[in-house]
Amino acid sequence: MVKKILLAFFMVAFTLSLASAQQKKLGNETEAQKKQRMKWWTDARFGMFIHWGLYSQAARHEWVKHNEHMTNAEYQKYFDQFDPDHFDPKKWAREAKAAGMKYAVLTTKHHEGFCLFDSKYTNYKATNTKAKRDLVKEFVDAFRAEGLKVGFYYSLLDWHHPDYTMDNAHPLVQVDTSKANYDRLNKGRDMNKYREYLKNQITELMTKYGKIDILWMDWSWNKGDPHGKWGDDWGAKDLLKIVRKLQPGIIVNNRLGLYDYSDGGDFETPEQVSSTELEKYKGKTFETCQTFSGSWGYYRDENTWKTHRQLLDLLITSVSNGGNLILNVGPTARGEFDYRATHALDSLSYWMHANDKSIYDCSFAPSQFKAPDGNKLTYNPTTKRLYIHLYNYPADGKLVLPDYKGKVKYAQFLNDYSEVKYVSSGGNDLELTLPKTKPPYEIPVVELTLQ
Ligand code: GLC
Repeated sequence: MVKKILLAFFMVAFTLSLASAQQKKLGNETEAQKKQRMKWWTDARFGMFIHWGLYSQAARHEWVKHNEHMTNAEYQKYFDQFDPDHFDPKKWAREAKAAGMKYAVLTTKHHEGFCLFDSKYTNYKATNTKAKRDLVKEFVDAFRAEGLKVGFYYSLLDWHHPDYTMDNAHPLVQVDTSKANYDRLNKGRDMNKYREYLKNQITELMTKYGKIDILWMDWSWNKGDPHGKWGDDWGAKDLLKIVRKLQPGIIVNNRLGLYDYSDGGDFETPEQVSSTELEKYKGKTFETCQTFSGSWGYYRDENTWKTHRQLLDLLITSVSNGGNLILNVGPTARGEFDYRATHALDSLSYWMHANDKSIYDCSFAPSQFKAPDGNKLTYNPTTKRLYIHLYNYPADGKLVLPDYKGKVKYAQFLNDYSEVKYVSSGGNDLELTLPKTKPPYEIPVVELTLQ
């Protein structure tokens, strides 16, 4: 009995503490206001990530400094060598736009610490290389000119800064992880100073480039573990306050380590997850970030590139669960998209040109509509159009839509607006009559206008 009472007491206390954790807030924006602020982003559904930095020259992963345990001195050759003579962000912007992407997020600084922008607070920046200019500014101008929204990725980690303390991601402690080595390397390092640096740089990014639509800060791990870093290590609350004050409309990702606050980030960031895993995010505000191959930075010898079908699947599955896809390009050290990226983008642009209405402004389908036969649905709630993505094109041209009877007004292919006839096929089902020859798209789309 006593046990039972105690158990009940703990259950109530636990539920209350969970509830209050969920209630904790940093600001006072309402859900409706947040929805409004994020509307362009949830409508857009598809963006481009761009990982570009000194590591593009090593051409073997943006974590190369960590992976090969390089010191600043060993890494310096990439700074001295950096000379992106083909950098033309207008071209990037045109390619992103053609592929149907509505926004782009560029690494202003990645973990290596190198700044593509002209920061007052460091010499480790593009203006001091052979590039001799603020590359972030050119990116912003070019993407704005194409009508795309602009975002900044900013690494909270910094493997170059002299005040940044050791953690298990730092290149210098990969071989000798002993406490003694940590202590030795941490001598003279001061996270207070590094926190000031973060504040100063974030302030620069939020004030020197006009309106910024997205800020993507990366990342926090191993809460409470001295070998990880979390919100307090970054001064995350202060950072977010500065960001929100300087750019009130901005959309911020969730990696600052403020998970106890319901407004500690605007969206979840499932990274490189499979499309099956994406199903778990249904109904949440999320953006899955994905690479074309395994790496974010340009990786010359990486050959496991996703196929056109896999990329389409990620895009469609994101939208069919109510989320976004941000697809990454890692430009070369000369500042160009390599041929594999360009080829992948071209294929996407071919598909998007014909089928983008099933992506923009769309979300998951109302629960009474089931996807027939391994195909996937998206839905535009404003126009009340339901989109069937034909993953499995029926050889005999017959596709049964279970329980759709009386719910459909008209059916057509999206790519050419050609009518698709249907009959009721007994019970509550409809049957579409599709042409035997599959339209020339990897995944064709049928649009149903609902009653
Ligand atoms: C990870 C990696 C990083 C990449 C990022 C993108 O946290 O550290 O290299 O930039 O995810 O999501």
